[in-house]
Amino acid sequence: MALSLKKARQQTAALLVPAHPTLDSLRAAAAGCRACELWKRGTQTVFGEGARRARILFVGEQPGDKEDLAGKPFVGPAGVVLNKALAAAGIERDQIYVTNVVKHFKWEPRGKRRIHKKPNAAEIAACRPWLEAEIAATGPEAVVLLGATAAQALLGSGFRVSQERGRLMASPLARHVLATVHPSSILRAPDDDARHAEMARFVDDLRVVAAVKGRRKGA
Ligand code: URA
Repeated sequence: MALSLKKARQQTAALLVPAHPTLDSLRAAAAGCRACELWKRGTQTVFGEGARRARILFVGEQPGDKEDLAGKPFVGPAGVVLNKALAAAGIERDQIYVTNVVKHFKWEPRGKRRIHKKPNAAEIAACRPWLEAEIAATGPEAVVLLGATAAQALLGSGFRVSQERGRLMASPLARHVLATVHPSSILRAPDDDARHAEMARFVDDLRVVAAVKGRRKGA
């Protein structure tokens, strides 16, 4: 028993999630998470942040360099794009909660820089209990999956953002789930025209979710 508990602890964060969790107790527990090896590489756990009862919960891939240092999600260049798109779609920051599928920065050195490395399936699985607990604690009307890593982690490896983006789907995660591109893909557009076109499509996707009517009083 002791051995299998130890193994489970190493494989996912499930045993670290407190009973009757709140966002504060989750954040405190996640700060010491060692369910996968990424805690050794990251500066700190970057837990989600935002409204306690969020109308919309956004899920990215993993914190980047800036987020790792700040301890907050989406505060770097991708976050700037996300904030602009949210404003253009009429989504207020105080209505949302923003988090990631993986809560430690995975990187490899290139000279003095820390270069982002995609999390693997075991790291995503290890971290998933935190995301599920965040969704349960915030109770959003809609979950928005930003990019292929988030979409495939939650909707299956066969899910194609390019084919299914911008569509509201029913899901056990929330009344609505919508997948769209990751804001960092807009930064990688080859020129200004492509960047503007990609941003406009991203904002259109977010407008779909902005139009979701809340069931909660005041939502
Ligand atoms: N990219 C992500 O997916 N999440 C962040 O928090 C920052 C960049």
